[in-house]
Amino acid sequence: TELDLAIRGGTVVTAADSVRADIGIRDGRIVAIADRLEGAAREIDATGLLALPGGIDSHVHIAQAAGTGIVMADDFASATAAAAAGGNTLVMPFALQARGTSLREAVQAYRGLAEGRCYVDVAMHMIVSDASPGVLGQELPSLVKDGYTSFKVFMTYDDLVLSDRELLQVFDVARREGALVMVHCEGYDAIRFLTERLEREGRTAPYYHAVSRPEIVEREAAHRAISHAELVDVPIMIVHVSGREAMEQVRWAQARGLKVYAETCPQYITLTAEDLRDAGVEMSGAKYVCSPPPREAESHAAIWEGLVQGVFQTFSSDHCPFRYDDPAGKLTPRGRTSFRWVPNGIPGIETRLPILFSEGVSKGRISLQRFVELSSTNHARIYGLTRKGSIAVGYDADIALWDPTRRETIRQEILHHGADYTPWEGFEVVGWPVTTILRGEVIAEAGRVVGTPGQGRILDRQPR
Ligand code: URP
Ligand code: ZN
Ligand code: ZN
Ligand code: ZN
Repeated sequence: TELDLAIRGGTVVTAADSVRADIGIRDGRIVAIADRLEGAAREIDATGLLALPGGIDSHVHIAQAAGTGIVMADDFASATAAAAAGGNTLVMPFALQARGTSLREAVQAYRGLAEGRCYVDVAMHMIVSDASPGVLGQELPSLVKDGYTSFKVFMTYDDLVLSDRELLQVFDVARREGALVMVHCEGYDAIRFLTERLEREGRTAPYYHAVSRPEIVEREAAHRAISHAELVDVPIMIVHVSGREAMEQVRWAQARGLKVYAETCPQYITLTAEDLRDAGVEMSGAKYVCSPPPREAESHAAIWEGLVQGVFQTFSSDHCPFRYDDPAGKLTPRGRTSFRWVPNGIPGIETRLPILFSEGVSKGRISLQRFVELSSTNHARIYGLTRKGSIAVGYDADIALWDPTRRETIRQEILHHGADYTPWEGFEVVGWPVTTILRGEVIAEAGRVVGTPGQGRILDRQPR
């Protein structure tokens, strides 16, 4: 036969337009987009559905080493199964370098964890926590040359923080090698100062996590990262921007013509610091402890402004799942003594797209085109994933079929991740991904994951 698969009668949506058309697929690639395609071995009826580029989540943490006695709730199998059910075909996790260890060995180790287990495609970033001469002089340049063209650095956390001098040195390597640096902008010293003061006052409940990392702390670090990037002349991506203060720094940088990209996440348009307050149960606020923390409700409008106006290029989950009711998760013995020991991060790999679709498209805040850019196309362009992020001839047939009118209530029992809760329990959405197709094969359908582990590939990126 001419075609392996035809997706018929849907509305094909890209970052540029929406057209009613059939999609023809052969050998995993899109080979035709036309009014009416005949002669396919298999057909999917997409009448009444939207055919969107499969979601790309360029900021997820999977199976990361998370400190003594703390275990992440997802391995590569469960995280990518959840991703598939949530309308995604590609995720970008991090290979985490522990300080004092080899960056290349970290990359090999995380590839090993992913190999043969993934339901969606995977492309790896790195986390660089060590700016020693061997890393800056040899390992990092050689890994970027091998196609690891993006990596994250941190301005906080004891185990990860880089000094300003180290940041500049790392930025300089990125500039020379043509890599994109993702920066976690929160100031280490300010957080330490505020945390110590709160603990002296006995304010140790999960809620005080938010008090210990106010917007000023994020704004200051964002400004510092932008200034360092301008000094060195390197592009940066400011990840998980949480509110107006940091966003205005990004806007300022972009207006100056600096290559500063920005990302935001579902938590910053839906959750607030109030969610960190214990609701009836002691430590229940721990379910919402992530960094930066969710802000005030007014902050949601600021983030929408940035999503609409294009300050933000990507909308990612920052999926970083820990079980709640588990001594190896949020409720470690030490975590119960103070917010400062509660592992940071929340699950969201499966709920990112329904939340953006519902709050954005269904509520009329953004167009379908903007949704596609924020959820897929821009991730592919910015991180150098050719053949991904659009529905066009020659591209991989990574497609999510959406029912734009389907009402659903997010509940833990319908999700596929390894966490034992969702921060969005009871959250109502309009619009739902009903079928996910990876390189021409259905991997999730009607709430069930039907692909096989190993169907997702670990992608090699081309050096920039
Ligand atoms: O709290 C968070 N976001 N944990 C994940 C790690 C990070 O900083 O992105
Ligand atoms: Zn064939
Ligand atoms: Zn971060
Ligand atoms: Zn993160």
